[in-house]
Amino acid sequence: MVTSENLLRDRLGWRRMFVVTVLVLLSVTSVISVNRDNFKTCDQSGFCKRHRAMQPGSSPYVVLMDTLKVMGTSVEVQLVNRKNNIRLLLQVSAVKDNSARVKINEMDPIKKRYEIPVGDALVGEPKLQDMKVLDRSDKSITLGFEDNKILISSEPFRIDFINKEEPIISINTQALLKFEHYRKKDSPQGWIEGVTSWFSDRFRAEEQAPPGEEGENKEDEEKKEEENVEEEKKEEHKEEEEPSMWEETYKSFPDSKPHGPSSVGVDISFPGFEHVYGIPEHADSMALKTTKSTDPYRLFNLDVFEYELYNPMALYGSVPVMLAHNEKRTVGIFWHNAAETWIDISSNTADKNFFSKIADIVKGGSNEIPQTDTRWISESGVIDVFVMLGPSAHDVFYQYAQLTGTTNLPPLFAVSYHQCRWNYNDQDDVKNVDAMLDQYDIPYDVIWLDIEHTDGKKYFTWDNDKFSKPEEMINNVASKGRKMVTIVDPHLKRDDNYQEYREARDKGYMVKNKDGNDYDGWCWPGSSSWPDFSNPEVRKWWASKFHYEDYQGSTPDLFTWNDMNEPSVFNGPEITFHKDVLHHEGIENRDLHNMYGFYVQQATAEGQLLRSDNKERPFVLTRAFFAGSQRFGAVWTGDNMAEWGHLKIANPMLLSLNLAGITLSGADVGGFFKNPDTELLTRWYQAAAFQPYFRAHAHIDTKRREPYLQPEENMKIIRNAIRARYSYLPFWYTLFYDGETKGVPPMRPLWVEYPTDKDTFSMDDEFLIGSSLLVKPITEAGQTGTQVYFPGEGQVWYDVETFRPYPGKQTTYVEAPLSKIPVFQRGGSIVPRKLRIRRSSSLMVHDPFTLIVCLDRKGAAKGSLYIDDYHTFNYRQGEYLLRDFSFDQNEFRSQSGDQFGKFTTKEWLEKIVVVGLRTEPTKAVLKVKGEESSLQWEYNSQYGQLIIRKPGVNIASDFSIKLT
Ligand code: GLC
Repeated sequence: MVTSENLLRDRLGWRRMFVVTVLVLLSVTSVISVNRDNFKTCDQSGFCKRHRAMQPGSSPYVVLMDTLKVMGTSVEVQLVNRKNNIRLLLQVSAVKDNSARVKINEMDPIKKRYEIPVGDALVGEPKLQDMKVLDRSDKSITLGFEDNKILISSEPFRIDFINKEEPIISINTQALLKFEHYRKKDSPQGWIEGVTSWFSDRFRAEEQAPPGEEGENKEDEEKKEEENVEEEKKEEHKEEEEPSMWEETYKSFPDSKPHGPSSVGVDISFPGFEHVYGIPEHADSMALKTTKSTDPYRLFNLDVFEYELYNPMALYGSVPVMLAHNEKRTVGIFWHNAAETWIDISSNTADKNFFSKIADIVKGGSNEIPQTDTRWISESGVIDVFVMLGPSAHDVFYQYAQLTGTTNLPPLFAVSYHQCRWNYNDQDDVKNVDAMLDQYDIPYDVIWLDIEHTDGKKYFTWDNDKFSKPEEMINNVASKGRKMVTIVDPHLKRDDNYQEYREARDKGYMVKNKDGNDYDGWCWPGSSSWPDFSNPEVRKWWASKFHYEDYQGSTPDLFTWNDMNEPSVFNGPEITFHKDVLHHEGIENRDLHNMYGFYVQQATAEGQLLRSDNKERPFVLTRAFFAGSQRFGAVWTGDNMAEWGHLKIANPMLLSLNLAGITLSGADVGGFFKNPDTELLTRWYQAAAFQPYFRAHAHIDTKRREPYLQPEENMKIIRNAIRARYSYLPFWYTLFYDGETKGVPPMRPLWVEYPTDKDTFSMDDEFLIGSSLLVKPITEAGQTGTQVYFPGEGQVWYDVETFRPYPGKQTTYVEAPLSKIPVFQRGGSIVPRKLRIRRSSSLMVHDPFTLIVCLDRKGAAKGSLYIDDYHTFNYRQGEYLLRDFSFDQNEFRSQSGDQFGKFTTKEWLEKIVVVGLRTEPTKAVLKVKGEESSLQWEYNSQYGQLIIRKPGVNIASDFSIKLT
């Protein structure tokens, strides 16, 4: 039975429950109301409600064309609100590599509106490019760059992005622009003048009047018009007096709103697109749904306990990036705003209304063109939209990467297997788990310590009884090439004997409550305060805490986990900060809430860089994130459950994260809450072994579930799954290198590689790794087989274990007994693997490679391999190797993939497996530096499998193997 007591116990664990019951008696309801009642709906959020109440066509803004300034790479022009005469400044710029930026801000705000500092979410000032004025009148201006046109129309105000005469993205087509200017309380600025000017301008907006009025009696029309005016006057008054504008209370939590209403919102339409994706984090399908009968998708970083599946509620992180895809192109939007944001989606021809038929209007009236309309609503800040014009998905990834950066190449251990639990109890427990995994021959790279390792939840400290010799413990683990991670959360226990707390307090580094005192809230240690990570000086201070002399007991083999960084405040509204808490320079949390967790991870990663003098790559896992968090490390999907539904949702959740740049991401294997049965746990390991970030984790009150504790059959299957992961590490690592250089995610929806195949547009139960592997995890109980869709007309896919071929562009039932992971390699690809599996990835670094060459129907294949030292930044000085492999006309070739990388390695080539070779050769001749020698092989005619044994060449050398 679900009782509040049970739920509290689950959340906190038994021991903590006692403490918290005593300590948080008054605020306990906020901790135990663990269902959706704990979180706001749009209706309970004043600004969201105000925006949603606005109907299409009602935005009062027009462009004042006579204020237009054209400046090479940008244009600037004023918008005026016809109702109150408030002016906004619109800036439209062309951004290099086929993107554009649209910014709308108040002209003369009484208070500067918050903008995320350049260098935070954005890596730098975006590089602009020239635009040409193609056409200009007193009603519109058309700008051109690359092969795009931007049409800015004045009345009604809208912006259309047009590519080769096709509109692809339009802003404010539904006239939903709403910009709540800062104002003084009790003096609705400009209201009177606004109404007066509105009267005179009302009749100019005739093109907005609904059709079908022709021929009506003029008197009636005038009467109606007057009535409308009266109505709107009332409406406006009502809006000005909306009580939620100046103060709002949610449950028992007041929001003082010292600056009053400040929200911004506008509609963005995608004519010609039926599918939109992205805006993580939500526990929902990859293809986003229309929100007509639900709340909008919400982006507001929250610690949502036991989250529900398939709904638009906010979760731990926010990336306001949306991609739209159709058979012809992919485009994207980045809404650069860190405040609470809601996104409405309406779609398809059926939803179209007079104001939204953009493509039909431009193209002359066909009703067949689908369209997706979205509306973006943020509580504060400015409208700052990056429009990424593709045209391919790979182009959009690159365009977005130019703005917010890419996932830095992780150290190899980060993409290996991680063993975590809340908690490994003491150093003997750690030693034992490490030894048991060895005993059962189960590779692992990192063992994790959760909050119980500390002295009373004071991060950077150790529980002296349980972890009396942390260095010895870490060194013991590290002796097998492994690493450790400790949790370092951002809440600091308010304890005068706690150095980090004392320092931050004394330096004035804490986030303040609205009255200017250090914010005091509840988290794991009880009463806590939170350093203001949005302040660069505080981040610097925090980073310094990772020096070995500061973080006693830490070593270069210890890395970090940042949790609860939304931040989670057990007795706060929606279990987070009050919106009116203050960051440096008087910025409210309202303005930057979604960036807090980003800054925590950034500061931590900087700490790791600092301690190694910028030599070693950091590794930091975070729960909360924002656009750009990919630069600082890994993300996991938080507190999921040991249920089949949660295993299943991991695919779309991770796909959405990957589409939005957060590529080193994974879900807790086994499910965090509850105990998985052995089948679920086994299937979970199999799925996660093929997802980018692979960590097992479990709640403190769950039964121990390390792989070696499973019944023998399951243990062996799990071991095989983990070993499979290790065998593919060279492939993952190469993909992450591609990711750093091009922004392309390793885990991809099928449509990214098969953009014209409509059947794949909503497919999120199978995915690609790179372009070469197709994975269909089993996510249902008792399943012993599954329908697999193989994409690609004329393509062939090979089962990676049996090499059985499957033709493309069709669905086949594939047997998948418990021991089987349905994974297939594309004919035409070459995948590098290492088949000598050892205890950790670093023990495998000198081991030889095996190349799996799966031939396409023409008997050809291509692939690449990236190598470096797997842990330092030396690769950025050119110490790496990029190898290109090809197989064509019975000849395999290995050559350098670029002229820059220089690296010497002991790694060599042990085996080449060619699959799909129709006839057995009579000779295999290896040629290196002009020298020829014959090689041995085995041939199996069933699937045309040729195993070439021991080419024996160093992987860095150029060579060829000719089969005759
Ligand atoms: C949060 C985290 C979880 C962690 C726990 C204790 O619930 O999401 O992973 O184990 O806190 O630190």
